[in-house]
Amino acid sequence: MLPDLETPRLALRPRRPADLDGCLAMDLDPSVARFIWGAPPDAEKHRQGLRARFADGWPKLGGIWVVEERAAPGFLGWCGLFPLEKTGLIEIGYRYLPKAWGRGIATEAAACVLDRGFRNFAFDPIVAISHPENRASHRVLRKIGLARRADAVHYRQTVAVFRLSRADYLALGKGLGDGPAQAATPSDPPRTP
Ligand SMILES: CC(C)(COP(=O)(O)OP(=O)(O)OC[C@H]1O[C@@H](n2cnc3c(N)ncnc32)[C@H](O)[C@@H]1OP(=O)(O)O)[C@@H](O)C(=O)NCCC(=O)NCCS
Repeated sequence: MLPDLETPRLALRPRRPADLDGCLAMDLDPSVARFIWGAPPDAEKHRQGLRARFADGWPKLGGIWVVEERAAPGFLGWCGLFPLEKTGLIEIGYRYLPKAWGRGIATEAAACVLDRGFRNFAFDPIVAISHPENRASHRVLRKIGLARRADAVHYRQTVAVFRLSRADYLALGKGLGDGPAQAATPSDPPRTP
């Protein structure tokens, strides 16, 4: 069971089936889809894929949190930790409605989730993948401490790979956390968080 999390401005809560419409509308926005699929996915197929994800309780390792402003509750997007295909590694990922962009919300939520991933789940390392041109996402990843490595192919695309080890994160002395550790194991999921 994932805990609710809080940052100075944000409330993060586990994603639930009632978030399906919010996730679908976000994913069908061309500016959101641009660096993920190139163009929005087919609406009905995507709805079915999301429904299957919710029913399946994906991801089995990590979790997805819906992000809301504490001062103005409502779905803004999500941030989460989940297995990266074919690697046995855990990936941090996020996606927001355009109305939430440019306010540091993605960075604030990702820093909180990253801290959870290292301190509570004890994932090591945590990686991220991103379209090579997705500069806003690269900036978020760098600001929370990940460094870019060599590009690789994941989910049939060439992607920029970012990585941070647990030791390097803890040495940075960022964030707060508590609770039991949960070890990562290999997994191979499709890419439709
Ligand atoms: C990627 C995404 C989460 C970034 O959200 P955001 O609200 O812009 O993020 P933040 O405001 O926390 O920080 C963005 C940083 O990138 C910078 N940035 C934004 N656009 C940029 C661009 N085109 N080039 C370079 N830097 C850029 C911002 O200036 C900011 O850095 P700063 O704080 O040093 O000024 C958001 O654009 C999004 O949801 N996109 C659609 C889904 C997606 O691509 N997800 C990532 C998949 S890997």
